[in-house]
Amino acid sequence: MDGSSIIERLMTTEGRSDPYPLYARAHELGAAAPAGAGTVLAIGHAAANQVLRNPAFALEDTEALVEADSRLAAHASVTLLGRSVLQRNAPDHGRVRSLLASAFNARRVAALRPAVEAAVARLLDGLAERGADGAPVDFMDAFAFRLPVEVICELLGVPPQDRYRFRGLAGDLTIALELIQDLGELDAADTAADELAGYFTALVAERRARPQDDLVSDLARIAAEAPGRISGRELLANLVLLLVAGFETTTNLLGNGLALLFRHPETAAGLRTGAVAPALFTDEVLRFDSPVQLTTRLAVADGLDVAGVPAPAGTWVMVLLGAANHDPARYRRPELFDPDRTDSQPLSFGGGAHFCLGSRLARMEAEVAVPALLDRFPRLAPGGVPTRRDRLVLRGYETLPVTVR
Ligand code: HEM
Repeated sequence: MDGSSIIERLMTTEGRSDPYPLYARAHELGAAAPAGAGTVLAIGHAAANQVLRNPAFALEDTEALVEADSRLAAHASVTLLGRSVLQRNAPDHGRVRSLLASAFNARRVAALRPAVEAAVARLLDGLAERGADGAPVDFMDAFAFRLPVEVICELLGVPPQDRYRFRGLAGDLTIALELIQDLGELDAADTAADELAGYFTALVAERRARPQDDLVSDLARIAAEAPGRISGRELLANLVLLLVAGFETTTNLLGNGLALLFRHPETAAGLRTGAVAPALFTDEVLRFDSPVQLTTRLAVADGLDVAGVPAPAGTWVMVLLGAANHDPARYRRPELFDPDRTDSQPLSFGGGAHFCLGSRLARMEAEVAVPALLDRFPRLAPGGVPTRRDRLVLRGYETLPVTVR
């Protein structure tokens, strides 16, 4: 199987539901491989890491793309996400990222821990109540979605009554992060982008009029006083990004983690007794079944290569994060789930200039939530057949039924 057929197979429902056998085939091709004209796959851990850290492998400039192809201008999901830090290059990227970064530094995240513990306790009460009669409860809806959405909304300043409406909208918007073959696939993402941008336009206006102690108020003030630091349009794009990036992925970390615990009761037992460290468990979930499987870059300089495979300017590089995390050259028996691994450093949060801003927060949420869940429900068990979302880039469950009694 060559690089092109691996990508083709990854884009089928079967490939998306279990990409790992395809990644194993990809490793047989080497650390990198061509995948048709103008595309290279970064497959190995070191190769993927090097691409992410090299600014000559940039994000595609969406504004230039929209100018070149006017059909794209009609797609609100493309233009909105394209203005966020996730898809900008220097110097705009650094200018805006530095404004957002302070909200997610070690001190701020540590200060959020008591609020996360309180939210976990409250949501576990809800789970206990819903499952009190022994009936299955959907863990994704009752817990995995709610915890991160509450945390990021608290930080942003989104009022409690608005929070639970975002699951469907975020799910729709993130279609725009998948490998799109037909622009028609973006319809739901565009509707969600319009709705989310409308929501934050109103919230920014409200916070400008009556500032509070939250991130929307802080950023809205900076945008008003110093629009050279962040424009109004950049503000909206990044608020939507923070909301969506703040829970879609963390929801999937919690869901993928619990599904793995059901397959590995010895790990659940170890977490309950303290023999398995929550931080190492979280690292191994991130490595073994990463909530983000793939990202892309565009070669913008001449003379580049990916692990020896030429990548002239204009080459698309598909960085297979999920494959890199299963690289047999980096991990002993990568196909085994083993929370005793140390120095794992999975690439699930990316690397280089775009390294995930929320990695500390996501890890902390998982490290608080998972032991608390296991402590609270000694008989926690699968309550039916889980369903995966049919996605490649953002990997997670749609439903994960559990019984708690
Ligand atoms: C398990 C949870 C998470 C995973 C696996 C994850 C993964 C990632 C990855 C792979 C990237 C880089 C994408 C690229 O280089 O193309 C990224 C960027 C980003 N993430 Fe996360 N993320 C998670 C949680 C969060 C949370 C909780 C937040 C916010 C509160 C967040 C905010 C961001 C932002 C703002 C960026 C863009 C950074 C930039 O481009 O400079 N993420 N994330």
